Amino acid sequence: MADEPLVLGIETSCDETGVGIVRGTTLLADAVASSVDEHARFGGVVPEVASRAHLEAMVPTIDRALKQAGVSARDLDGVAVTAGPGLAGALLVGVSAAKAYAYALGKPLYGVNHLASHICVDQLEHGPLPEPTMALLVSGGHSSLLLSSDITSDVRPLGSTIDDAAGEAFDKIARVLDLGFPGGPVIDRYAREGDPAAIAFPRGLTGPRDPLYDFSFSGLKTAVARWIEAKRAAGEEVPVRDVAASFQEAVVDVLTRKAVRACKDEGVDHLMIGGGVAANSRLRALAQERCEASGIRLRVPRPKLCTDNGAMVAALGAEMVARGRAASSWDLSADSSLPVTDPHVPGHGHDHVHEAGAGNLYS
Ligand code: KG4
Ligand code: ZN
Repeated sequence: MADEPLVLGIETSCDETGVGIVRGTTLLADAVASSVDEHARFGGVVPEVASRAHLEAMVPTIDRALKQAGVSARDLDGVAVTAGPGLAGALLVGVSAAKAYAYALGKPLYGVNHLASHICVDQLEHGPLPEPTMALLVSGGHSSLLLSSDITSDVRPLGSTIDDAAGEAFDKIARVLDLGFPGGPVIDRYAREGDPAAIAFPRGLTGPRDPLYDFSFSGLKTAVARWIEAKRAAGEEVPVRDVAASFQEAVVDVLTRKAVRACKDEGVDHLMIGGGVAANSRLRALAQERCEASGIRLRVPRPKLCTDNGAMVAALGAEMVARGRAASSWDLSADSSLPVTDPHVPGHGHDHVHEAGAGNLYS
């Protein structure tokens, strides 16, 4: 529908420069430039390298997205950007670019939360989110169970990891197995040819007295590393596929078990899974199985929309516009530790955009 808000979203919280364009809940463009290859030899994302790569990729990626969507920047109803959480320097490049475009175009600026965006992106795939939504958010930096009655204003954490994030555990185990970075996709691939029951790795925080919705992956990580060391010390070959499958099973078993439990306890009949780890094929399959067994409807976006991208930022920005949320002020700053409970960073109560926006600087 033409009256739905047309929003451009910019994502630079980690190593992908993502620019997406959506109209309401319809995806028009999803352009991503990744600096992942530049980090691979360091075994993790190097913040300064990421910031420089964002700077170089920004304008070409925006141009590519506009072209792909077949729209003019002048037609936009708003510019959304990840304000946090993420790497401070990397976020700053996105926020500065979003401000420059929004100001030059005379359009409202929306600083949004990366984590809420990972949830909102599913609207592009499966239509409006049910309210409330139960979301399992699993990425390289976060693992949380969230209950949201409105993704633009109310996100309540039920539980989260007390140590490592799920994606971080994948990345660390891949490093121990010498499989490279990022670890998630490669472990996923190896695990397909392995036996998930080969090794009984521990399931963190699943004891009778443990918190119901919190996660812990550091004990699992240590157990897997020790198991591998013991094999190597004994001069035996490490069965990489079985280790990958058994490790992955331990992670996704706990994630799905706790997510289904939360749905049942809260009386929510559907579950959304978002974030980079939601691209995991075994997590998707086991979640489907367990949700079906409990009469819960599962919503998981396609893998490309699970890992970081600009479309998810545009999706949340469009929702902000549609719901009449306040635009951010021009002094919006990047907040590397923006709490999950703040879906966006509003302005100071008055509309700076139409006051200050130049609107005629962009040609
Ligand atoms: O959401 P995301 O792209 O960036 C953050 O916001 O962190 O998530 C990245 C994380 C990485 O740890 C990566 O290893 C993991 O998602 N990941 C996966 C898969 N694809 C990406 N983990 C497991 N299986 C996958 N297929
Ligand atoms: Zn992410």
